[in-house]
Amino acid sequence: MTYVVTENCIKCKFTDCVDVCPVNCFYEGPNFLVIHPDECIDCDACVPACPAKAIYRDTDLPSDMTHFLGLNEELSRLWPNITDRRDPLPDAAAWDEVGGKLVHLER
Ligand code: SF4
Ligand code: F3S
Repeated sequence: MTYVVTENCIKCKFTDCVDVCPVNCFYEGPNFLVIHPDECIDCDACVPACPAKAIYRDTDLPSDMTHFLGLNEELSRLWPNITDRRDPLPDAAAWDEVGGKLVHLER
């Protein structure tokens, strides 16, 4: 089992999740964060902490978000670890809950 960051994080990146994770298993790209599936201990702390409601337990993933499981696994092996909260991206409030953001993912 693992937790998974999904589409609504893209172009928001609030990073409140990083603050509450006890094992520092978040990894950071230009406009998205991911969770390393082998490091997550399934504590559930990040789900209520995310203002964008972007994080799910893998078994709770909505059917249209299942591809984010593989994307978290792939990108967490490529991107650097993030251990400190940062400011959200400049237009985070405007992009929150905008649909179809996967096309904007930067690698
Ligand atoms: Fe970190 Fe817990 Fe969220 Fe896993 S469920 S990413 S261990 S805060
Ligand atoms: Fe993204 Fe939510 Fe964390 S927007 S950076 S998953 S707090």
